[in-house]
Amino acid sequence: MALLEVQDLKVYFDIVRGQVKAVDGVTFKLEKGETMGLVGESGCGKTTAAFAITRLLPDNGDIVGGTITFDGRIIAGSEEERSLTKRKKAKYVDQIMREIRWDEISLIFQSAMNAFNPVHKVGDQIAEAILAHEDISKQDARKRVVELFKLVGLDVGRIDAYPHEYSGGMRQRAMIAMALACNPQLIIADEPTTALDVIMQDRVLAEIRDLQRKLGMAMIIITHDISVVAEVAKKIAIMYAGRLMEYGDITAIFERPSNPYSIGLMASFPSIIGEKKPLYSIPGSPPDLANPPSGCRFHPRCKYAKSICKEENPELTEVEPNHHSACHFALEIFNGQLSEVN
Ligand SMILES: Nc1ncnc2c1ncn2[C@@H]1O[C@H](COP(=O)(O)OP(=O)(O)OP(=O)(O)O)[C@@H](O)[C@H]1O
Ligand SMILES: [Mg+2]
Repeated sequence: MALLEVQDLKVYFDIVRGQVKAVDGVTFKLEKGETMGLVGESGCGKTTAAFAITRLLPDNGDIVGGTITFDGRIIAGSEEERSLTKRKKAKYVDQIMREIRWDEISLIFQSAMNAFNPVHKVGDQIAEAILAHEDISKQDARKRVVELFKLVGLDVGRIDAYPHEYSGGMRQRAMIAMALACNPQLIIADEPTTALDVIMQDRVLAEIRDLQRKLGMAMIIITHDISVVAEVAKKIAIMYAGRLMEYGDITAIFERPSNPYSIGLMASFPSIIGEKKPLYSIPGSPPDLANPPSGCRFHPRCKYAKSICKEENPELTEVEPNHHSACHFALEIFNGQLSEVN
């Protein structure tokens, strides 16, 4: 049994002019101890997917379709949940997630600055999280915080400092310590390193990789930087405009990308080992998710687009074991038989 199973997840936001279809039919699985990278351009729905899994969506957002199963329990989209009114549903979700959030699934927020309360000391806030979930004494919680500080490479002497006294890198590490506090089975790290300079980014990534190896938890790393994923994950899910474009084993996808969007995304990042070549940029910009294009959402920007792409949404199809692509011409691309039309 997979640890996390996301099946045809749909998350919409209500806005004045209608609905934003931020996540619109996303399916993936994560096994125990596995690391997956969730990548895609800004606004494609990565954070929304993370908030759906942790059930932390803002009031105007709702899971309108699909299911999320964690460790055998349906944590979103069960029959029971669907039958409830909005108010009762909020209570129901609270009840389910109280046992799971932080304890079993924890989230490293995209903005670590906002994740800590500015008026409490960092160490106290982490201790609070432990005390809320475990029946241990304050002294033991404090001891655990000291261990966690050491684990993530934070100076223990700074345990009683306030969040604003930390540098960006330290706050990010403190956020990781917080996420690890209750030994969760799954950590979702939303852009854990984007706010950091390149050197600090490398260190924090190395730290995350080490911790993952040592502690064996499963992890979803969300980023728009595909090179980050290459360093830490075995599996990748590439998202575009609320949908998965390509999904599976990272080596297979890096070596034999079979979706025009992923090919464009990979060509837009520099390769350290490959030959020097000008960086590519995908023409156009991502669509407005309140009014997404028909058919394949990438078709207006795709150089391979044919008429079927405007009409039908391509399903994820297997091009080889552990490698899926949502493109009407996935197999042709995989086999090198497709040439651009425009
Ligand atoms: N509360 C909200 N109300 C309305 N629309 C929202 C809300 N939150 C997010 N969105 C919209 O949902 C879409 C997906 O946003 P999301 O934050 O999930 O993207 P992302 O992939 O995490 O982007 P980034 O890389 O910039 O963090 C965007 O179009 C965004 O504007
Ligand atoms: Mg985001």
